[in-house]
Amino acid sequence: METTRKPVDTSVMRKKPLSAYAADVQKSELKRVLTRWGLTSLGIGAVIGGGIFVLTGIAANEWAGPALALAFVIAGIACTFAALCYAEFASILPVEGSAYAYSYGTVGELFAWLIGWNLILEYMMGATTVAVSWSGYFEKFLHLFHIEPPLWLMNDPVTAQEKAEALRAAGQTIPDFTFAINLPALLIVWVVTYILVKGIKEAASTNNLIVIVKVATVIFVVIAGSFYIDVANWTPFIPAPVVDNTGQTHFGFDGIVTAAGIVFFAYIGFDAVSTQAGEAINPKKDVPFAIIASLVICTVLYILVSLVLTGMVPYNKLDLKAPVAQAFSDVGLTWSVYLITIAAIAGLTSVMLVMMLGQTRIFLGMAKDGLLPRNLFASIHPKFKTPWKSTIFVGATVSIVAAVTPIDKVSQLTSSGTLFAFAMICGAVWLLRVREPNLERPYRTPALPLIATLGILANLYLMWNLRTDTKITFLVWGIIGLVVYFTYSRKNSNLNKLEP
Ligand code: ALA
Repeated sequence: METTRKPVDTSVMRKKPLSAYAADVQKSELKRVLTRWGLTSLGIGAVIGGGIFVLTGIAANEWAGPALALAFVIAGIACTFAALCYAEFASILPVEGSAYAYSYGTVGELFAWLIGWNLILEYMMGATTVAVSWSGYFEKFLHLFHIEPPLWLMNDPVTAQEKAEALRAAGQTIPDFTFAINLPALLIVWVVTYILVKGIKEAASTNNLIVIVKVATVIFVVIAGSFYIDVANWTPFIPAPVVDNTGQTHFGFDGIVTAAGIVFFAYIGFDAVSTQAGEAINPKKDVPFAIIASLVICTVLYILVSLVLTGMVPYNKLDLKAPVAQAFSDVGLTWSVYLITIAAIAGLTSVMLVMMLGQTRIFLGMAKDGLLPRNLFASIHPKFKTPWKSTIFVGATVSIVAAVTPIDKVSQLTSSGTLFAFAMICGAVWLLRVREPNLERPYRTPALPLIATLGILANLYLMWNLRTDTKITFLVWGIIGLVVYFTYSRKNSNLNKLEP
């Protein structure tokens, strides 16, 4: 008997059928153990890290001054719009794989590909930035025990030379060096990679503990630090604008917006909750809850920390590598420096863990759909049951970039990819409401299309205010993504298989 076959849909906007998601969920061997607070704890675990412990230094010192708190408010608002849209998406398709997976089933393949491609910047470059931050705090930790490794072993080549010059200018004798590498950043990435290849069971159970330590430390910073606030440090709250020789404006309103683009990084990670939907007991309700709850909790903490930090130390004296620990050391609370440093090191490790884990899950989803090579990204270790090749690939990339790149370059690139992905998600949720108004939505984004429109505008505006070289790198990354899509992914997509 002859079977009639439908022609293959070759459109770049073809969608993954919802029945395929149901099959994926059935095949999944993941255990559903995560409660709503367990998910929220994962969100907070991925959020609080390099942004608050490190980038606050650069953002206040070079761009916003005491108005750092306003930068956090602006970035928080942009994230809130995105989180509200993310939450609706997560409630419709409670599958792991994050926004990539949601948009593949609802908007179309090319759109999903572009989101996935930008999520690589978010997760992989995010882990890279955090590795560099980790190294900064590790250096502080060694310093507490009077161990001072050479500059060329603790920094990327550019930063190492800059620091050497600054120290020489200050009268210190620093021998010349031609080679430099951020060795601690490189090594910690391999430790995390090792844990992820072996399995994340222990890592997941210690996550809750790390989150408690992290949140307790942040609350400690706020309460203890508030006793050392000198309100004179807040005046003027918004320093007068200064234009540098590249034409960029520091301080003033423009400086605050640039700082918002920088500290936006501190919020990244609340969406990592959505990569864990496969392990949630009640994903349709609890993933949206956890996305919004982790964002709200972190926003409040961040605003308080930035007010305290800029109140404790004049903004132009804030340390660029480990500002929180340094601020406490400056006011003489030397003992607390141990606490903050250890909490930061542990906290940053957990961010790396969740970011690199999230990246391998997204790659896994894309490879299973045929958009990336299966043998590299979907190969599961027979004993450890982890995507080991993909994890090693991610570890190798993150460690090499972290070893040789200055932190502000990678952090801005991370933000650019995430901001773009967030803007696309806001657009996708709106589009889906129009196209499929009757779909079951356990969580509905309020005031759509207003929230989606504001989300698109706010995220693109922050993106526009990133540094020019970041925007160029972002565009180059996007073009490479399109080339990969049209030369590989489109041809190998599962959707090319003839449907009976
Ligand atoms: N939000 C995370 C951090 O600040 C990525 O480290």
